[in-house]
Amino acid sequence: MRTVEWSNGKVRMIDQRQLPWNVEYVEYNDYREVAQSITDMVVRGAPAIGATAAFGMALAAQQSPALDMGSVLDFMEVAAVILKKARPTAVNLAWAVDRVMKVARDDVYSNAKEIRKAVLDEANRIADEDVTINQTMGKFGADLIRKGDVVLHHCNTGALATVDHGTALGVIRTAFEQGKQFRVLLTETRPRMQGARLSAWELKQLGIPFEIIPDSAAGHYMRAGEVKIVLVGADRIAANGDTVNKIGTYMLAVLAKENNIPFYSVAPTSTVDLKVTTGSEIQIEERTPDEVRCPYGNALIPDDYPVRNPAFDVTPQRYLAGIVTERGIVLPPFRDNLPKVIHGEPASSAKTAK
Ligand code: MRU
Repeated sequence: MRTVEWSNGKVRMIDQRQLPWNVEYVEYNDYREVAQSITDMVVRGAPAIGATAAFGMALAAQQSPALDMGSVLDFMEVAAVILKKARPTAVNLAWAVDRVMKVARDDVYSNAKEIRKAVLDEANRIADEDVTINQTMGKFGADLIRKGDVVLHHCNTGALATVDHGTALGVIRTAFEQGKQFRVLLTETRPRMQGARLSAWELKQLGIPFEIIPDSAAGHYMRAGEVKIVLVGADRIAANGDTVNKIGTYMLAVLAKENNIPFYSVAPTSTVDLKVTTGSEIQIEERTPDEVRCPYGNALIPDDYPVRNPAFDVTPQRYLAGIVTERGIVLPPFRDNLPKVIHGEPASSAKTAK
């Protein structure tokens, strides 16, 4: 099943807080609950929260009791604000909400029922496109992995972080399905352990060999010459290629450069935000200190010890060997090449980047 989907008039998703111990699904019939599920990380990962928010908008259109089109649109505008606020960093969230809202505002409808149908169709389209985009990125990116490689991966960027297949983990999956033999080192990804809980759960099901390492061990394995390539996802990429991703990504990128290991980000073009020129302009979500003090209910640190908990960091573009997109692998200089790809040109590097 998909990470998130529309099911009998409700938004249905796997509860990622329960994995890997329990595979449980939750259903929502109120867009405010959908927004809360994004904030609480029942669903997480930039493309997945984009698709979830799109379904949240479809729910809002359905929830509105109004018969006239203007009132349905007003109701949806409020829902758009609430859903966009659910998490601030991943641009896919606002991108998906805006895309649904644009369809809703079209002047081709003659009644509210038609708006409701059109926005649900658009949300389903966003979800379907996400799957095909990930499969395409998987094919482009799989060329980067060679037989015998050890691939270092951070956080969770797999089927769970998307509607299906995944971005960086999707590349790993495609390479494995092509018959390549390699191993994956998964960083735990503190404090929420997306690597140890979610990526490991996915790779175990796929039969892909992996080992979980403490986040702090990545440099050790890089320096020892084990790691041949680093693959990560992205929550937002600035016009100059600066990449915002899960906290700890920057440290991995600096270590990769120090050890001459290629470092790639894998992300759909919907993750690129040309409105921001550099990563410094992107809001970094600060989450509750309790995630660090008491992860998943296990108290490690007393309540009165001060804690900071940024969810993401900025990796300056100079650390990236390339950005794998559904239009090919974008190579530096990103300031020139990213806008071209966003405006529809295929990445000229698509065939040469190996
Ligand atoms: O806080 P999360 O778990 O939502 O963070 C997820 C990441 O940072 C991923 O790397 C990113 O969203 C890309 S997922 C395809």
